[in-house]
Amino acid sequence: MCGIVGYIGDSNVEKVLMQGLDSLKYRGYDSAGVALYDNGNIKVFKAVGKLENLQNKLSALSDDEKRASMGIGHIRWATHGSATEVNAHPHLSMDGNIAIVHNGIIENYKELKSELEAKGYVFKSQTDTEVVAYLIGDEYKKVGDLKVAVQHIIPRLKGAYALCIMCKDEGDKIVVVRKNAPLVIGIGNGENIVASDIPAIISTTSNIVYLNDDEVAVVKKDSVEIEDLNGNKMPLNIQKMSIEMDAISKMGYKHYMLKEIYEQPNIVRNLLCGRITNVNAPISLDEVKISRDALKQLSRVQIIACGTSLHAGQIGRYLIEDLVGVATEVEPASEYIYRKNTTDKNSLVIAISQSGETADTITAVRQAKEKGAYIIVITNRPDSNITRYADSILNVNAGIEVSVAATKSYTAQLLTLYLFAIYFAEVKGVSLDRLPSIKEELVSIPVKMEEVLSSDADIEKKAETLSKYQNFVYIGRGVNLPTAMEGALKLKEISYINANAYPAGELKHGPIALLDENMPVVSVLIPGHISYDKTISNCEEARARGAKLITITSSDDKELEKLFDVIIRIPVVSDMLSPLLAVIPFQLLAYHISNFLGKDVDQPRNLAKSVTVE
Ligand code: F6R
Repeated sequence: MCGIVGYIGDSNVEKVLMQGLDSLKYRGYDSAGVALYDNGNIKVFKAVGKLENLQNKLSALSDDEKRASMGIGHIRWATHGSATEVNAHPHLSMDGNIAIVHNGIIENYKELKSELEAKGYVFKSQTDTEVVAYLIGDEYKKVGDLKVAVQHIIPRLKGAYALCIMCKDEGDKIVVVRKNAPLVIGIGNGENIVASDIPAIISTTSNIVYLNDDEVAVVKKDSVEIEDLNGNKMPLNIQKMSIEMDAISKMGYKHYMLKEIYEQPNIVRNLLCGRITNVNAPISLDEVKISRDALKQLSRVQIIACGTSLHAGQIGRYLIEDLVGVATEVEPASEYIYRKNTTDKNSLVIAISQSGETADTITAVRQAKEKGAYIIVITNRPDSNITRYADSILNVNAGIEVSVAATKSYTAQLLTLYLFAIYFAEVKGVSLDRLPSIKEELVSIPVKMEEVLSSDADIEKKAETLSKYQNFVYIGRGVNLPTAMEGALKLKEISYINANAYPAGELKHGPIALLDENMPVVSVLIPGHISYDKTISNCEEARARGAKLITITSSDDKELEKLFDVIIRIPVVSDMLSPLLAVIPFQLLAYHISNFLGKDVDQPRNLAKSVTVE
């Protein structure tokens, strides 16, 4: 759908407008345009199709031709009139004195148009917006004041609108008004910006003002004043943009899922911040409220979760057993609640839930609590229902996850489990010789994640060739069996392709019967562990049955090219920390395959973000 941006200030106006439009293009559009005000002149540039077409036009101009002290921009999704340059915004009044961009629909534009035509006005476009430009232009001739002209015209418009208006004769202001269409004003320092959505504002300022219906704002470089349609002054209610607002915008990505995949390095960075200050010093995890003595005495851990959170828990088991040596079980919450389990007051129950609203996990935690277990909840929503039963809450702080397919919350859960396992080992006084190098490597993970993301274009190409298959087998061993399971789940849920994950060693015990040239086998190969050679052997067995082989590996061994059809390389990483990196290519593969197949990536059929029924 349409997006609008307006800017007044000393930054490069054309750049601010184009960046703003770029951040709004996820809404969908078919043409774009900007109007630049410079010293009594308004210059309009438009292009049909992608924003790049407009950018190319602007890039061909000299700095002088693009110079501007303010401007307005628009991406249009055609409603009245087809996607042509003439119909694209901004539109000018007939005398060229007024320029406007508009989101929404003016329902009575035909009557207003006829009225103007009767007065001798001739229209160039088929749009409802040009009618508004002409009306304001007509009124301006009478009143000689842009704000007043807008206040006089607005009561004549029926429908929905967010309008940004400039006037050749009033080069110090943009006038904006809205009704039933979003418009936000960003208050900067010596600059101000307006837009139809937060993403276009974020890079200029975090101070925002929401305009109410039928309020008219006069936005100058150093001031913003709001009036109602009768000229009464209205308060300027400046709010700080919250992280949530930032999180719920697509920030220019095509889908929330892609944006959330790309957020992972920074989420991990934030989670590590203040936890590991010196690799030789104990980790700081004050949120764990259980006393050190009680933690030392614990003889068992039970991890309970569903779906993707369950996969994080399976890796958690591996970490706790390897680093702490305490027996750990992992179970889907939906199984735990219907079985006679042995949870007691010596049990530590770790419940993992992104939403904190998953009914099965909440019931499981309530039952465990009734049996006297100590409860740690790992969640992305510390204010959610599940935390009512928690003795300790570990907030994974991933920001709101909008896409139904969990990505960033998974890596944030994993990181939290790594931190907890290290903390637990330190309290127990075990594995102490191994911990400094693990901590050192943990700190390097965000940069390595960024390296993985930098190969996205290559993964996208590979995904295109893989998108023709209907069935996949995923295999992994040890700490990366859950990674393979998570990769298969991602593919299933957003592309509806059948993907099943198996322990690599189990392939020969049955699933191998499925293999032929139509059943690709996707593996995870991390050198430095016995499982590496064994997994290669399993892949060779699959190759002998004609299966196409794909691997995600941190090995740079050229020999692998002889065996595998598709290799996705990730940076060198220890087996223990590899799940944090290996999952990213799986997420990207699933994302791109779903996108190639034209599926609804963020809202897959039959799925909901919080499953509040058992
Ligand atoms: C998969 C996915 C689901 C959830 C599961 C548990 O991408 O999102 O499998 O992981 O429904 O949800 P939470 O973690 O909110 O309890």
